[in-house]
Amino acid sequence: MAPSPRPAGAAAIITATITVNPAFAVGPVRRETFGAFVEHLGRCVYGGIYEPGHATADEDGWRGDVLELTRELGVSTVRYPGGNFVSGYRWEDGIGPKVERPVRLDLAWHSTETNQVGLDDFVRWCAKAGVEPMMAVNLGTRGVQEALDILEYCNHPRGTALSDLRRKNGAEEPHGVTFWCLGNEMDGPWQIGHKPAEVYGRLAAETARAMRLAGGDELRLVACGSSSPAMPTFGEWERAVLAETYEVVDYISAHQYFDHSGPLEDHLAAGAVMDQFIRDIVAHIDHVKSVKKSDKDVHISFDEWNVWHMSSPRVPGPTGSDWPEAPALLEDLYTVADAVVVGDLLITLLRHTDRVHSASLAQLVNVIAPIMTAPDGPAWRQTTFHPFALTSAHASGEVLQVAVQSPSFASPAHGEVPALSAVATHDAETGAVTVFAVNRGTEAALSLTVDLTAFAGLGLVEAVTYTGPDPLWHASEEDATSVLPAPLDGVALDGGTLTAVLPRVSWTMFRLG
Ligand code: AHR
Repeated sequence: MAPSPRPAGAAAIITATITVNPAFAVGPVRRETFGAFVEHLGRCVYGGIYEPGHATADEDGWRGDVLELTRELGVSTVRYPGGNFVSGYRWEDGIGPKVERPVRLDLAWHSTETNQVGLDDFVRWCAKAGVEPMMAVNLGTRGVQEALDILEYCNHPRGTALSDLRRKNGAEEPHGVTFWCLGNEMDGPWQIGHKPAEVYGRLAAETARAMRLAGGDELRLVACGSSSPAMPTFGEWERAVLAETYEVVDYISAHQYFDHSGPLEDHLAAGAVMDQFIRDIVAHIDHVKSVKKSDKDVHISFDEWNVWHMSSPRVPGPTGSDWPEAPALLEDLYTVADAVVVGDLLITLLRHTDRVHSASLAQLVNVIAPIMTAPDGPAWRQTTFHPFALTSAHASGEVLQVAVQSPSFASPAHGEVPALSAVATHDAETGAVTVFAVNRGTEAALSLTVDLTAFAGLGLVEAVTYTGPDPLWHASEEDATSVLPAPLDGVALDGGTLTAVLPRVSWTMFRLG
């Protein structure tokens, strides 16, 4: 993992160019690309978004500091309540008076679930956070009827048993949830109720058809794709599931996590690895479309993505007779390199905005998350918070395909990988052009030339970079601010040509207007 030492004074430098032209639009910047995920897992809900008695908690028990950071992060949709958790979940457990809610075993995370937060509560949290809920139904231990029940409870105005139950529980107006995941990672043997592709595909199609009888075309339905490109069933799973569901769903999901073990070069290749995964999924979708002679498109919902230090968990998970409430699980502390990878993964998702119509950073708080909290204490930003927040704030208008000429570097696991990863957005209304660029190189700074001559009269608004002298530095409760996004010095714009030097292992945003 350690970057190899460079001899003192040997300031290695490589060169690369990008050409940006408004004629090469890929598709719109979608707000849904900036989704996140809240699962009943570890301290994501309890001690994360919800901590009654915390100094910043509101009357409902939501942590005010977390709400504030969620808004600052620029999150659009939030997937809920899982994840693996949803495949053993009874949504009715989480509604009604809190004192009457049952305590249950959560088999997915070997924990005790108190159900003090549930559906109506989460929808209220979403309104406060200014985000849209993306709900998942349980297709592990449950099926069509329970999916119809939760849909009716959420969205029917009044006059039925379930809609009136919602009103009795304090939500007079329907929740209006239109984004629904049909189960979670049903390809994985670890999933409660894991099924073969044909069996899941049939169940997902039956569920989708029934849900559309109630919710029509307004619903956006996501069938489960593969939980990783490394799954032995990847590809065939997509084919078989889409063979059943193609005409009744809008998206197929993709999940992918990047571990940081091994050489830093492998970690920094993550964007290129995700890029290939997306291309492969597109091929599988288009294969089914062609076989079915369909006019309809199915898009990708990349609803779990992130860096996850899976091979080196900080705390082992509970086992045996230990069934704790909200244990500290998956609380990875992210490095500068991890943040550069997250920035690169967002660049990759944006580059595929024609096919990736939704994405969720997994997860939001404490559990592999950009936001961390201390019980009774402060909330703080991880390194990965910064590129996400800046991209969400400044990507706007159309995504432009940029022509990149870049040297490559050798990743032992992934072969030759371009050192430069980039994308641009152009907002025709405001005239803003934003270029996001990552120098994946672990050794050399990158001398970058950006050809912007296709745009008339651009000026540089700002150039912000996220990097650090030690790519392995991580933020912590004690020090979350030693490495922050900072202005990039030495950027020049002359006659429509921008030049800059990107430090090794860095993420940079150029804003022009
Ligand atoms: O995000 C953590 C877990 O990773 C989710 O519960 C599951 O869907 C995935 O395997």
